[in-house]
Amino acid sequence: MNILFQPFGPSTLSSALANKASMQLGDITQREFPDLESYLKINTDVKGADTFILSSLDNPNPKIAPLLFLADALKSEGANSVSLIAPYLAYMRHDIQFLPGEALSSHSFAKILSPFFNNIITVDPHLHRIKSLSDIYQTNTTVVHAASAIADWIQKNVPHPFIIGPDSESAQWASDIANLANVPYTVLEKIRKSDRKVEIKIDASIDFQGKTPILIDDIISTAGTMITAVSQLIKDGMPTPICIGIHAVFANDAYERLLASGVSKVVTCNTIGHPSNAIDLADALVNSLKLKRT
Ligand code: R5P
Repeated sequence: MNILFQPFGPSTLSSALANKASMQLGDITQREFPDLESYLKINTDVKGADTFILSSLDNPNPKIAPLLFLADALKSEGANSVSLIAPYLAYMRHDIQFLPGEALSSHSFAKILSPFFNNIITVDPHLHRIKSLSDIYQTNTTVVHAASAIADWIQKNVPHPFIIGPDSESAQWASDIANLANVPYTVLEKIRKSDRKVEIKIDASIDFQGKTPILIDDIISTAGTMITAVSQLIKDGMPTPICIGIHAVFANDAYERLLASGVSKVVTCNTIGHPSNAIDLADALVNSLKLKRT
């Protein structure tokens, strides 16, 4: 039996996982004590079951304690396995110690999560200086790729697309999607000045005439990268671009600022629930789950 738990509420992926992957929905009671500690109780019999917890890990800090309590309780209640489906996996960007004394949060986070889960399934984690999740996670990991769903969306919705990765880190997504959609692409040069400030350079020899520029990045957080790239494109006389992000993190008012930056459209995948979600990854996620049928 496969049972799905959603400790932080349902998402657009829940029903697809329940229906297409034949998962029963599990029930829990959860609340906070007056001192803000977490209370959690499993109301579904999980003995011998393969259990799955669906939780995107944007805004991770308040989620971690309840998530780990649930995983631990599932094991204690006799679940055969506990898997985490985290469509967005947090803390992947701090992947090197930039200054002596800094906590290497990508590694620490992996050490915290790994012992609680038999499997961790995620969508396009930010693998840059870390080459594979197995380099830092000490449990089975599965990476689902959004490239083919994004390429499909572009082919159906954008005339004469020209894909642009705003920085070298986005090259892996820009090139994969461009190859799948069979369209041209380029990668810009980004210099990060601070958490919120970046500079971007565009190769002046590229001819965008008659094309629809599509900026593609894995994460849109402060949207500083996207907004700077959009401004630079517009300043250089390019057509108004579309922005596509895999993970709609959108810190604070980032989405509103990006919409106001002159972009023609902002589109994201549904790894994090957000009004910009237009690309559904349910099938990609379901296909990645190797489930025993009951
Ligand atoms: C890092 O290089 C990532 O690929 C994104 O470019 C970055 O996370 C975007 O962050 P922000 O939206 O804050 O510029």
